[in-house]
Amino acid sequence: MNAPVDVINYKNGVLYMEEMPLHPLTSKVGTPFYCYSTAALRNAYLQYSRAFADRQALICFAVKANCNPSLLRLFGQLGAGADVVSIGELRFAMKAGIPANKIVFSGVGKTKTELTEALKAGVLQINVESESELKLLDSIAQSLSLVATVAIRVNPDVDAGTHKKITTGKYNTKFGVACEDALDMFMLAGNLPGVAARGLAVHIGSQLTSLEPFEAAFTKLAELVVELRTMGQTITRLDLGGGLGVKYHNENIPAMSAYAAMVKKITDPLKVQLIFEPGRSLVASGGVLVTEVIHTKQNPERRFAIVDAGMNDFKRTALYDAIHRIVPLVEPKLSNKYSYDVVGPVCESTDTFATDVLLPELKSGDRLALLDAGAYGAVLSSNYNVRLTAPEILVDGAKFAVIRKRDTYDELLAAYRQPNWLGL
Ligand code: LLP
Repeated sequence: MNAPVDVINYKNGVLYMEEMPLHPLTSKVGTPFYCYSTAALRNAYLQYSRAFADRQALICFAVKANCNPSLLRLFGQLGAGADVVSIGELRFAMKAGIPANKIVFSGVGKTKTELTEALKAGVLQINVESESELKLLDSIAQSLSLVATVAIRVNPDVDAGTHKKITTGKYNTKFGVACEDALDMFMLAGNLPGVAARGLAVHIGSQLTSLEPFEAAFTKLAELVVELRTMGQTITRLDLGGGLGVKYHNENIPAMSAYAAMVKKITDPLKVQLIFEPGRSLVASGGVLVTEVIHTKQNPERRFAIVDAGMNDFKRTALYDAIHRIVPLVEPKLSNKYSYDVVGPVCESTDTFATDVLLPELKSGDRLALLDAGAYGAVLSSNYNVRLTAPEILVDGAKFAVIRKRDTYDELLAAYRQPNWLGL
């Protein structure tokens, strides 16, 4: 899935997001910064909601992909629910106006405090990943005189065919319970008055570029529904986990229509409510990271462009060997291209955004955009090297707003304390 081509493109050699040229924003907010297109985000959400409009389906945005409250509000206004994995995410989603009864609480290590708050808030469903969690949830729910609606997350032992660090559906990962243990979980739940197990959930990984692994996992899930029903269990809901991958580079991403047809073929006979938890495909392509070249230099082997964004701002290339296209904000008149390594200022070799990428000749002060940076970008940022968190901008047509400000050194310092024996 990708943003519509006309949302982020060049007009007369200048890179625009919607009706907003990105170049002037650099002097208004400084670099580096993230910038998101409202139209791209809306369009991505509508692809899911339209594809499943004829089914009982809830699209829950996976907040982990981008927790900016303005984005959550935008999706919430379009009708989205939220998939959250911490109380922080739950609070952000609710603050942004997403009602608790559209929120799914996922995650392998939810604490007592988190489960208590989620239950009190009245979330739609808690996806349980272990017997220990089920028992804990039961005791909390009983103490609150509530019954928690639960889906059991299964691990179907299916290879998602994605990067090993974002694979979650094989037995060598910590997620879910084995399909063969699902019945025991339901039987146990049947004896626990504080929980009502009514669904199954699955998520086998992120950035999937083919339908086959989804199909294999959903088929296992459907078989399990039939089996559980035969054993007298009630299953009314299936949570099909994260969404499609995105085209970062040269990947071929299946069309939404093909994904939807596959899902419907497998799930229609079951007559269940569907939940989807897309993150990346809703926000990746609608976001860019804008950065400025600080220096250029060459050694006998390589030509470097050293930019002012670092791996603290955007970690995907360092963590997952991800490939992101990098383009200039203003296309130069000359079309000569050179092979660059685009690197950040952080003191680590892995602080590299691209290796051997063809770009026009760069000089200090040139601005670049790293594309498809809207998912797992800002959320993974840190203050490593005591660098300030990059601001985030939302564009809508020709308007823009700062939706997260750059923090300040004083704000960073304010969180620290000194023991009195060190003297002040
Ligand atoms: N549901 C669950 C239970 C998940 O664990 C995830 C992602 C999603 C939904 C959303 O999946 P998506 O639609 O975004 O594929 N930081 C990594 C990605 C980690 C994904 C973790 N789980 C990256 O930048 O590639």
